[in-house]
Amino acid sequence: MVFSGAGISAESGLPTFRDNGGLWHDHSVYDVATPEAWARDPQLVLDFYNARRQGLRNVEPNAAHSALAELEKYCEVVVVTQNVDDLHERAGSSQVIHLHGELTKARSTARESLVYDLDDRDIVLGDVCELGSQLRPHVVWFGEMVHNTEAACAEIASADRLLVVGTSLSVYPAAGFIELAPPAAERVVVAPDLDRVPAGFEWLRGSATDYLPQLCERWQD
Ligand code: OAD
Repeated sequence: MVFSGAGISAESGLPTFRDNGGLWHDHSVYDVATPEAWARDPQLVLDFYNARRQGLRNVEPNAAHSALAELEKYCEVVVVTQNVDDLHERAGSSQVIHLHGELTKARSTARESLVYDLDDRDIVLGDVCELGSQLRPHVVWFGEMVHNTEAACAEIASADRLLVVGTSLSVYPAAGFIELAPPAAERVVVAPDLDRVPAGFEWLRGSATDYLPQLCERWQD
């Protein structure tokens, strides 16, 4: 089991949220990532997520994403990610559960289950679903329900090993899911800095690309 956050994509060139230079330093969450923001100024919200989606065009998975994909040759690997990018999938990971949505998809504002592939296209005002309602980014905004909670929790609760990588573990409920790992599971957290090492975890202090290739090699048994 892998529980990943924005830090795993940082070395591909995507900004994290809370580090210096992170997205929430340049943008107010309340302006771009809440249902209220969407109601107030949908153009601003679309501009923010269209820019994020365009940013994906210029980046590639890094050695950390690739090491996790490679590990599938040796054992079952399920990635539960808070990330809205598609770098785990592009690296070759076959089981990726997105908790906070996916930038490369749009969904209907009338019916949540109507989700459409965008690839790298923008969403513009006037783009509508088959029911005639405006499309919105398929991402979770503050105040909205996390996606795929049941599947993610079930996977974590049955993990033999749990790797936490690239996340400040500051956004709930997602951050709390790692506490569901069985007591006997081996637990490793990879992060350059941490306010608090979660209970029972070995902390590998450094970047994702420094540690994931060697950790995945260690787990090839
Ligand atoms: P954060 O920006 O909160 O945290 C990123 C973490 O990655 C920090 O702890 C960094 O120390 C670490 N980091 C930075 N570079 C790294 C590297 N090269 N290798 C390993 N770790 C590195 O991002 P998340 O924890 O993913 O939600 O944020 C969680 C959620 O908050 C996001 O999914 C998003 C955001 O608001 C929504 O938009 C709903």
